[in-house]
Amino acid sequence: MSKKVLVTGGCGYIGSHTVRELQRQGYEVVVFDNLIKGHRAAVQAAPVILGDLLNPADIAGVFAAHPDIAGVIHFAAYIEVGESMEQPGKYFRNNIQGSVNLIEAMLAADVRHLVFSSTCAAYGTPENVPVTENESYKPESVYGASKRMAEQVMEWYDATKGLRFTPLRYFNASGSSFDGAIGDAYKPASRIIPRLMEYLLGQRPRFFINGDDYPTPDGTCIRDYIHVDDLATSHIAALNYLWRGGQSMPFNIGTGVGSSNMEIINMVREVTGRDFEYEIGPRRPGDVTRIWADNTRARALLDWEPQYGLRQIIETDWQWHSTHPTGFV
Ligand SMILES: NC(=O)c1ccc[n+]([C@@H]2O[C@H](COP(=O)([O-])OP(=O)(O)OC[C@H]3O[C@@H](n4cnc5c(N)ncnc54)[C@H](O)[C@@H]3O)[C@@H](O)[C@H]2O)c1
Repeated sequence: MSKKVLVTGGCGYIGSHTVRELQRQGYEVVVFDNLIKGHRAAVQAAPVILGDLLNPADIAGVFAAHPDIAGVIHFAAYIEVGESMEQPGKYFRNNIQGSVNLIEAMLAADVRHLVFSSTCAAYGTPENVPVTENESYKPESVYGASKRMAEQVMEWYDATKGLRFTPLRYFNASGSSFDGAIGDAYKPASRIIPRLMEYLLGQRPRFFINGDDYPTPDGTCIRDYIHVDDLATSHIAALNYLWRGGQSMPFNIGTGVGSSNMEIINMVREVTGRDFEYEIGPRRPGDVTRIWADNTRARALLDWEPQYGLRQIIETDWQWHSTHPTGFV
C-alpha cells in the first residue's frame, strides 16, 4: 500500500511542486495550509485541509483524521528576509512556534519522520565555497536565524523524543513546472528571475541588478539556482532516507554550480529571444558575493541528484509567467 505523506505549506511554491511529484511517484498526500501565501489552485488532486500551524488544535486534527500518515514534509513558514528584519516576532512565531506545534502533534500521533525546509541563509556569508554542511552558522537575517533555530528545536526533539528529521538547506529555488500548470506565483516577487519576468511582461517599469563591482569574473553576485522539481525529488529522497533508518542530519540541496546575475540576464535573452535594457543599482546590504553548494552528502546518502540547469529554469519560468501573468488569480 502506498504511504501517506502530510505536506504543510503544500499550496505554496515549492510545496505544490512537491505534492505533484509525490503523487506522480504514487504516494498519498494530505496538504495543510492556511492560504496566507499559498493558492488553493496550486494543488489540483490532493485533499487540502485549511488550518494554521499556530493553532495546535488545527494540526492535531489532521493527525486524528489521518491516523495513517507515515511522514511529514514541512514547508509552512514566512520567507521574506527584508520583512523579517522589520517584523521579527512574526517570523519567530510562525517559523519556530509553528514548527513546535507541528512536532508536538506528530509525536502525539506517533509520527517520527520529518523533512524540513531549511535554507542556505542559515550559513550567512560562508568561509568556504562551495559550502558544505560543516560550514559554521552565521545567519544574517531574522528569517535565516528563525530557520536555524527551528533546526535546533528539532535537534532537541531528536535527543529527547526520537524525532528523526532532515533539514534540507536549499539554495535558490527557481523554475516552474514543465507542463506549465503550476509555477512561481509568490507575490511580491523579490527573487531576480521572477522580477525579470515581471519586467519583460511590462509589470515593472525598470529592472535593476544590485551591484556590478563585486569581486567575481563579471562583477555581479553568484548564486546556486536549483529547479523546483529537483527540490521536489530531494524531499521524497530525504523521506525515504529517514524511513530506511537514516540518522537526523542536514543536507545541502543545490546544483553545485554558481550562476552570476549577468549569466541570468544572458540566458533570459537567449530563451525569450528578447533584447532588453537593464540598470545597475546599488549593492543590496547583506548580499553575499558568491555562494553555491557542495551537494556531495545529498548525492551520497539520499541517492539524489539534480537533473536541471539554468536553461530549464528560465524556460519553465518564462512559460509559466507568460501564460499566467497574474499567477493563479
Ligand atoms: N523560495 C526559496 O528560494 C526558498 C529557499 C530556501 C528555503 N525555502 C523554504 O521553503 C519553504 C517554502 O517556501 P516557498 O518559497 O514555497 O514559500 P510559499 O510562501 O510559497 O509557501 C509557504 C506556504 O506555507 C503556508 N503557511 C505559512 N504559514 C503557515 C501557517 N502558520 N499555517 C499553515 N500554513 C502556513 C503559506 O500559505 C504558503 O502556502 C519555506 O519554509 C522556506 O523557508 C524557500
